[in-house]
Amino acid sequence: MGFSLLPSSPAFLAVFLLSFVTWCLHPEPILAITRHYKFDVCVMFFRSNIVMLQNVTRLCHTKSMVTVNGKFPGPRIVAREGDRLLIKVTNHVQNNISIHWHGIRQLRSGWADGPAYITQCPIKTGQSYVYNYTIVGQRGTLFWHAHISWLRSSLYGPIIILPKLGTPYPFAKPYKEVPIIFGEWFNADPEAIINQAMQTGGGPNVSDAYTINGLPGPLYNCSAKDTFKLKVKPGKTYLLRMINAALNDELFFGIANHTLTVVDVDAIYVKPFDTDTLLITPGQTTNVLLKTKPHHPNANFFMSAIPYMTGQGTFDNSTVSGILEYEYSHKTIQSSRSPKKLPLYKPNLPPLNDTSFAANFTSKLRSLASAEFPANVPQKVDRQFFFTVGLGTNPCSKNQTCKGPNGTRFAASINNLSFVMPTTALLQAHHFGQSNGVYNPIFPISPLIPFNYTGTPPNNTMVRNGTKLVVLPFNTSVELIMQDTSILGAESHPLHLHGFNFFVVGQGFGNFDPKKDPKNFNLADPVERNTVGVPSGGWVAIRFLADNPGVWFMHCHLEVHTSWGLKMAWVVLDGKLPNQKLLPPPADLPKC
Ligand code: C2O
Repeated sequence: MGFSLLPSSPAFLAVFLLSFVTWCLHPEPILAITRHYKFDVCVMFFRSNIVMLQNVTRLCHTKSMVTVNGKFPGPRIVAREGDRLLIKVTNHVQNNISIHWHGIRQLRSGWADGPAYITQCPIKTGQSYVYNYTIVGQRGTLFWHAHISWLRSSLYGPIIILPKLGTPYPFAKPYKEVPIIFGEWFNADPEAIINQAMQTGGGPNVSDAYTINGLPGPLYNCSAKDTFKLKVKPGKTYLLRMINAALNDELFFGIANHTLTVVDVDAIYVKPFDTDTLLITPGQTTNVLLKTKPHHPNANFFMSAIPYMTGQGTFDNSTVSGILEYEYSHKTIQSSRSPKKLPLYKPNLPPLNDTSFAANFTSKLRSLASAEFPANVPQKVDRQFFFTVGLGTNPCSKNQTCKGPNGTRFAASINNLSFVMPTTALLQAHHFGQSNGVYNPIFPISPLIPFNYTGTPPNNTMVRNGTKLVVLPFNTSVELIMQDTSILGAESHPLHLHGFNFFVVGQGFGNFDPKKDPKNFNLADPVERNTVGVPSGGWVAIRFLADNPGVWFMHCHLEVHTSWGLKMAWVVLDGKLPNQKLLPPPADLPKC
């Protein structure tokens, strides 16, 4: 009997055709879903495990802190690329609250971005707001954090974006995935610390500890039992989703006797490369693969982070450590030594001010730039901007003594303009055509008075103050050079742009040279990210396409510099087509 590929009975044929039609109309199952989360912001009493004075046991003190759902760090958000998120945030505390989904592109959904007084007024006590957005074209790790004052010191948590269902990673499937989120712990209330600093004009007190997943680890007094332990099996690959949620410190991180393979930064895949040490600035995320040793090593390994410090101020010069512990399989003959007695190795981390390590590390980051994950680098530029970033001063008011440099107040600026926060949200002002008296649409595109930015600083360190924005037509292709200044000391500044990823096309030390430096720009496979370190005493060049209408904050992710004014915003106008316009504001958008 013959065999035909096509069915022959009419009934069968009908079913076949019907299923074929159905298949063609829905070529694949509907994969993206909507996920609902509830965030309740509450005060929680938390046993601090850090010694404030001499006596360890007595001084493990109790402090109250603001949390989401009573958790510290806060709850994880897990979603797939393409999913929509509806997150209802209810404020049960006295502080005003707003939550930012750091690194999420927020295509046309700027109302859900979260920075207070930029895209929304804060959520007041007793009120709720539903953040509503869809994750488009991103996969990896991001994080959420409070975006008002210094509340992000305790309000932060991971955002884990898995690839679409059925889409594999562009690397071997890891055996397990582990978020590792760095934070900064203050014995005192961080709100009191920054309020006091803003009053006196001086530098704020530094943190008392760094934390890994909320835990300071054994190198701090009274904290040995508060140590993050990563228990692993030999011969496996683990995906560590690293997040720097610290307020004011860039970090070096390493695991003793283990090499890490970087595969993704800021939720974009990169060309994999091996390194013993990572540099991760506040606002950056890095996915790394950790291959465990083939056999039980009969040792434990510190996983430690220390600050990368370039400025002249005081800083928290302490080390946070977790422990990598190998599990024994029950078939293995147990070592007579209990795990605690195993030798403990420490990683070799660079010196605290190792700027050449930083430059070398960041130059290894390249986009994957494959057919499936192309690097869409803008090849031509419509508008160029040159921004100086750095510190400065404001005068002390009469009858006051200030604790900033030479009796002034510390300030920080972009093109010598220190940003003044408005009292109403910029996005509403823009959307409803009420920008008059709220912001000035003419931000300086380059310094008004050029100087030798990285040479001997000028005598006059005073900044100007104002709320100025750059306005861009839809789809403008932007090139931005950010130049560090030596005013009050050269310093690395991790600049974060909301609403976009950008490509880091060049970086260097000294002053940017507009004739020579662009020739060396990488327009083929530059790393794509949302936060980039402006090198200490150097510059960085980025490009992005302004294809997302809205008002987008850009600021140094060292929170103290944001407080001092190192921030500005871009207005991207609506395009002509219906799908190029900002969506209307949600009905529950908080009012100022
Ligand atoms: Cu992670 Cu504007 O912030």
